[in-house]
Amino acid sequence: MDKETKDTILRTINSSLQTRKLYPPRHPSVIGTIRRLQQLFLDLFRTQTKLVVAMMNDELMFDDTPVANSRAGYPDFFTRMKNKEIEAIIFEKGVSERELTSFIDTMLADDVKADNLKSELSKRGVTHVTIRSVGSGKGVFLRVYNDAIEVVKNTLDDIRMGKLPRAGPVKRVVGEMTELVLSDSSVMIGLTMIKNYDSYLYNHSVNVSIIGLSFGSFIGLEKEELEVVGTAGLLHDIGKTGITEEIIKKPGTLSYEEWEQIKQHPVIGEKIIKRINGIKELVSRLVYEHHVRYDRSGYPDVKGDVHPMSMIVTIADSYDALTTLRVYQKPYQPSEAVKILKGLSGKHFDPEMVEKFADMLGVYPVGTLVRLSTNEVGVVIRANPVDTERPVVKVIYDKDGRLLGEPFEVDLASGPHAPRIVGAADPCSREMDLGDFFTKETN
Ligand SMILES: [Fe+2]
Ligand SMILES: [Fe+2]
Repeated sequence: MDKETKDTILRTINSSLQTRKLYPPRHPSVIGTIRRLQQLFLDLFRTQTKLVVAMMNDELMFDDTPVANSRAGYPDFFTRMKNKEIEAIIFEKGVSERELTSFIDTMLADDVKADNLKSELSKRGVTHVTIRSVGSGKGVFLRVYNDAIEVVKNTLDDIRMGKLPRAGPVKRVVGEMTELVLSDSSVMIGLTMIKNYDSYLYNHSVNVSIIGLSFGSFIGLEKEELEVVGTAGLLHDIGKTGITEEIIKKPGTLSYEEWEQIKQHPVIGEKIIKRINGIKELVSRLVYEHHVRYDRSGYPDVKGDVHPMSMIVTIADSYDALTTLRVYQKPYQPSEAVKILKGLSGKHFDPEMVEKFADMLGVYPVGTLVRLSTNEVGVVIRANPVDTERPVVKVIYDKDGRLLGEPFEVDLASGPHAPRIVGAADPCSREMDLGDFFTKETN
């Protein structure tokens, strides 16, 4: 592509931003520049299917080539890319005038960063313009995960010291986790495979929150409801601070008195949460009810109805506990854990909800170790909602069972020659921490 064409496209994006800043949306000048832009794309997409405008080292890049003097040449576009922390904008063949109008409008909204811009565009039904943010690699997921661990730890520390924890950090981190679950629940669920046995309670709390959020969004909960579920998940075992460590960590069977104490944790948790200013009342109810069970065989005794969202926390809690190694239990593979949950359907769990939970995770849930038709062994890192038997797998053992120095990803849906899954592999026979494979980037 010649320099002139690039310059014309960038200039037209820039002037669309300038004009829209000065005039209302239906003003002829605004409509005129956007039409011109769309015409330029029509011409461009005769010979290519997409255009990537990126920001790298303080310079605009046009389809991988840097544009000289882009700050001075296209000041409005440049500053907005930079301030909004946009890494790249991808325009695709078929982009309409309406989509370009929405794109220009959202670019002009002040204080809207790349991540929100992304959701704003999808809300407006824009499918041919995609935004990639600077922090959109897996790095941001891990940062939020670790941040959530910190928040749980501080919250529990406060309680142990007799202080009332603050709602602010909890709300912030639940909000961030919600956004990430909505943007890519596979990556988030993958992170719940991080099982830190030394700080079980912290990891477990964050995992239950993430699994609950993913499940909640899968069954179509509203944002406010997700906030309640996510917060309840994060704080569900907060009442364990009121019970001595020895009982909580005791490997053998518990005495009657010890068990009576354990059974107090939802009650204690509810009381604490009710006293924290700024946490919704409903959160304390979900925490109170997270061990009640569908057939009421759990604790505490609840006479009336149990809130439907409590079951989300109950299922997420059990799923995470089952897939974690603990003193008294070997970890189950995600697919085995789902079978166990199904076996308790109608007893511990609401049958309809367990079915939906299993649907969300698919036949080979994220985190499952699988053997491929090539005899390689890998871990499922991304579900395939269309064909659940063909997820994306990260191969970690070669066909002779040797651990690979550099694991690689294979998309089992990539064509007729892609390998198939022949069965689940046993993680216990192998010394590994599956969580590792979700925290390391591969290209
Ligand atoms: Fe609990
Ligand atoms: Fe729990």
